[in-house]
This record gives sequence, C-alpha cells and structure tokens, in this order.
Amino acid sequence: MFAHIPPYAGDPILSLNEAFQKDPRQGKVNLSIGIYFDENGKIPALESVRKAEHLVVNAAGARPYLPMEGAANFRSAVQTLLFGDHPALKAGRIATIQGVGSSGGLKVAADFIKAHFPASKIYLSSPTWDNHRAVFEGSGVETTTYPYYQDGQVDFAGMLDALRQAPARSVVLLHACCHNPTGVDLSAAQWTELVKLLNERELLPFLDLAYQGYGDGLDEDLFAVRELLNAGGPFLLANSFSKNMSVYGERCGALSVVCPTAEQAEKVLGQLKFMIRRNYSNPPTFGGQVVATVLNTPELNQMWRNEVDAMRTRIKAMRKALHEVLSAKVPGRNFDYFLTQRGMFSYTGLSGEQVDALKDTHGVYLVRSGRMCVAGLNSKNVEVVANAMAAVLA
Ligand code: LMR
Repeated sequence: MFAHIPPYAGDPILSLNEAFQKDPRQGKVNLSIGIYFDENGKIPALESVRKAEHLVVNAAGARPYLPMEGAANFRSAVQTLLFGDHPALKAGRIATIQGVGSSGGLKVAADFIKAHFPASKIYLSSPTWDNHRAVFEGSGVETTTYPYYQDGQVDFAGMLDALRQAPARSVVLLHACCHNPTGVDLSAAQWTELVKLLNERELLPFLDLAYQGYGDGLDEDLFAVRELLNAGGPFLLANSFSKNMSVYGERCGALSVVCPTAEQAEKVLGQLKFMIRRNYSNPPTFGGQVVATVLNTPELNQMWRNEVDAMRTRIKAMRKALHEVLSAKVPGRNFDYFLTQRGMFSYTGLSGEQVDALKDTHGVYLVRSGRMCVAGLNSKNVEVVANAMAAVLA
C-alpha cells in the first residue's frame, strides 16, 4: 500500500538541530536553529511567562474548544501590541486570528491567498527562511523571488526593480525585522520608499514578524508595520511569540489582515475561520492564555519587556565578542558584518564546505547557507567558535 511513498529528505534547519542533539561530542555548539539560548546555553523560561503560567493554571477550569479564530483576550492583546491605538484598529479594519505559531498563520494565509487571489504569485526575498517556499507551495500558491541581498547589504535597487515588474495584486513577503537568514534589514528610509511603491503598484504586502524585540526593541521593530498602517493600504502580518517569549513548543502566534473597511475585515475574518476549520478546527488554549496574560497584566508586560531587552542586549554583546576575537585571529578579513547585522542571525559568507568542516571537525553547527544563529553564543563558547571559524577560513 505504501511502497510507492518516497523517503522524506528532511528539513534543512530541523534536521540539523536533530543531528546536533545526537552528536555525542563534548563542547559541541548549536548555532543552527533560530532559538535564543541564555548565557548557560539553556533555552530560558522567562520569569514573566512563568508567573503567567501559574495564573493560568490556577484559574483553569473546564477547557472547551476555543472559537476557530482563537481566544478573544489573546486576539485583542496581540492587536494592541502590534497596532497600538491606530485608527485602523479603532475602525474595526483589522481581522486577527490566533495562529498555531506564526507558521500556522502563514499556512492559513497561504490557503486564503490561494482561494481568494488565485492568479497571484507570492514574491519571496532571495534568500529567505527555508520554509517559506514550502508553506506557500504546499497551499498551491506559486512562488517567485525578488533580489534582497548582495555583498553584505540589501540589494535595494534590485529589489525595487523586481517589484516594479510584479503584476498588481501580487503578494510580497517581507521580513518586518531581523531578516532570516541574512540579519540585514531595510533602513527606515528604504521602508518608506518601498511602502510607497507597494501601494502605487497595488501589491499586497505580507509581513513576517517572527523576531519582534530582537532588532532594536519591541516597539522599534514595528517600524514597517507602522509605515504600512500609515500608508493606508491593505496588508497581512504574521507574528510569533516563540522567540520573544521563549515559548517555542506552545506554538503561539497570530495572523492579522489590515483591510480597507470594517465590512471587508469581517468577511476576511470569516474566510480565515473557514481556512482554520478545515485545517485544524481551532487553536489550543494553554500557550495562548499564557501569552495573553503576559500581555494583559501590566506588571508582567513590563517584566517581559525588560526580559526581551536583556536577551537582545546579550546577543549584541556576543556579536561584539565574536567580532573582536575573530578580527584578532584572522587579521586580513573584515568581520564588521557581525556588528551591523541585527537579530538572531548572521550571514557569515562561509561556503557549504566550510560549514561542513565546522560541524565535522569542530562540532560547531551552522545552517549550510552560512547562516549562524548568534543567539547560541555565550561567553564560554565564543572563543571555541572563533577558533573553529579561523581554522576553516585559514
Ligand atoms: C529558524 O529559522 O531557524 C527558525 O525559524 C526555526 C524554524 O522553524 O525553522
């Protein structure tokens, strides 16, 4: 019956993470998957989240199904976090659903795009997160790319050129901050120019916001969101709490669609519910209630903001440390990109062979594209990583 089923080649990021777990070597270093590890190499349980968990557990009674679109307190908290008191929110122009992580939001959006924009392609940055293409193609949405990265910078001219040629109603996927995998973001002026072009050309922007707080701050990282809101056109936004609340396995995220009118937002919400019903019916309760409690309890909200600041500051310190050690060890080479790139990732420029050598010879795991998760560095392993990199670069 199943003899014809081909083997699964595996996911380039998740398979690497699994290989790391099985690697028996002492001193191995995981800089592959986009997970924040603390100074002790552990995934932190944030204090704000732990306190919220206790509140949720103590309050828990029956656990009925949530509505298809998720819990009302979660959805409104997400809207306040992302859109503040913008008139679009007050006017009821934003449809938000609780997702199953932001991957779930991407999937629901992909089904929505396929159903209601059947002729539209989605433009992905080149390069982008390895799974973007798979998610959209899995829903039958045709994907294509726009240039994004060249010689350590955003290829802004190439990006605009490609988007100028895109047919109206094409969907354009953009990383709202902390571009994955390059760590290279658009400047404020570039966002403003891009948003103008997107509106003029009637393209449909789709922001992926998986690393909010890891760039410049929770509010600062919403610059692109605000630009799009203020420009007044429609857009989609998938956001995640996996990284900024360190709740990876709870799969907490949301999808918001900013619409021209409240009436359209209501219809869009209805269609999103339909997509959810036929995918997974409704989201789980616990993680979403923890996130909602953090966001909706002023004291916990502030505690969380401080914790996100601390995680971001630690990553920046690790970037500096790696830059310093590597610059001393490999004098002829410029490692300034470690300082200018933002968020969890650095595109190191290492070749696939060099990445293999890092793993095989030194037990240091990066994604084969040369992407390093800087959030896996700590003051105990940074020297080991620098030595290993210097060795493969020699
Ligand atoms: C990553 O890019 O490493 C993360 O977003 C985790 C994942 O699911 O790929």
